[in-house]
Amino acid sequence: MLNTVDPVWPLEERAAALRLPEGFVFGAATAAYQIEGAVRADGKGESIWDRFTRRPGAIVDGTSGEVACDSYNRWQDDIVLLREMGLRAYRFSIGWPRVQPGGTGALSAAGLAYYDRLVDGLLEAGVTPYATLYHWDLPQELQDAGGWYSRDTAHRFADYAEGVAATLGDRVRHWTTLNEPWTFCWFGHALGEDAPGLSDGVRGGLAASHHALLAHGLAVPRIRAAAPGAEVGIVLDLNVVSAATEAEEDRAAATRFEGVQNRWYLDAVFKGSYPADILELCADLLPEIRPEDNAQIAQPIDYLGVNIYRRSVIGAGGDLPPLNFARVNPPGRYTATGWEIWPPCIRDALDFAHRNYAPKALFITENGMATPPEPLGPDGRVEDRERARYLVEHLEQVAEAARSGIPVEGYFAWTLMDNFEWASGYTVPFGIAHVDPATQERRPKLSGEVLGRIARAGA
Ligand code: FCB
Repeated sequence: MLNTVDPVWPLEERAAALRLPEGFVFGAATAAYQIEGAVRADGKGESIWDRFTRRPGAIVDGTSGEVACDSYNRWQDDIVLLREMGLRAYRFSIGWPRVQPGGTGALSAAGLAYYDRLVDGLLEAGVTPYATLYHWDLPQELQDAGGWYSRDTAHRFADYAEGVAATLGDRVRHWTTLNEPWTFCWFGHALGEDAPGLSDGVRGGLAASHHALLAHGLAVPRIRAAAPGAEVGIVLDLNVVSAATEAEEDRAAATRFEGVQNRWYLDAVFKGSYPADILELCADLLPEIRPEDNAQIAQPIDYLGVNIYRRSVIGAGGDLPPLNFARVNPPGRYTATGWEIWPPCIRDALDFAHRNYAPKALFITENGMATPPEPLGPDGRVEDRERARYLVEHLEQVAEAARSGIPVEGYFAWTLMDNFEWASGYTVPFGIAHVDPATQERRPKLSGEVLGRIARAGA
């Protein structure tokens, strides 16, 4: 793994030279289970991540989000941190089992009150809230009833989404239905690496994906009805995919991989159909797709959120038959999660989405990098030059995309502060602020300061 700090890279100059369009939104993102802790407080229900983290070996360091950044109690510190870094937008998620413990029936007043306080606090501080309704913490009771394998979960999600929008919609204008369906459907249901930990291969990935997309489609009109004036979108983790070699078999594998990661979701949401090549390849592994589902999924949306961390270089291989692909790691710079640093990926992904699907607006809803754990320096600071450079190099690509006429309106760094990184536990911090595990004290890292400077200059 090459992750060398280059002291001569002109970070300050490059950061100062960045030009984003007027009104461009700079923010940071988090997710409920990764930061809130307080997993049993005030009647919160169990989520699939509460359950999965107890499975021996599921999380590399044996940890969980039980305490995490304790944001359930320290949300005011999070707002102070955003302000300190000059960020005027915050993308957070609503914990479904916190506001509806079993995933059905009445919403929890105590759970909703937490998000009420958070939203009011953000607005008072001049920070615009961007709320995501599902960032992977399905109520365990719904999982026990079939989870994303069940059509019913899609209807439960729409009910929940409407309830939350009815409560917060007078103050929250920006809504995201799902965060990264590809990741939670495939890593959770095909590969067993994320909650709920099912290893059902392509059949599992596709069934979960269809019901998740249906959940999105059912929820969009319900959110609009409950929160007039809402801007509603979905967040997809798009990857620019290139073939490992020019060989026909590698190119075909790259197309299959890209069909499942990108086109399966984009075609469904923007064109009202699934890609024909994937339908044909996986004909025996599909869930029931009713004729009316396609139109339901393709609800008009106001923006597409793009989470992007890297490109994918794909060749023929044995992964997930009949997709039969293998990821290839070309020589280059890599982060602590083993992801290649390839800044043009961000511009290529925006360009791909814009040219083929023309969403009304685009946001980079996540982008960032992991390092090994970073102790505080003697002066009490974290000098994460490599991460600061990563953010600047990727923002340069966003700026290029904007200059070329792509309607990209904002950028959210992943993540506001070091937190629970799913199956990697606390081993690979992504924060632009450090969190002291003993005291929970939050401190901007160099990367947070640099992003803040860029944000202030842009504002
Ligand atoms: C994304 C997730 C986010 C975080 C980053 C590193 O896939 O949406 O919660 O884990 O990766």
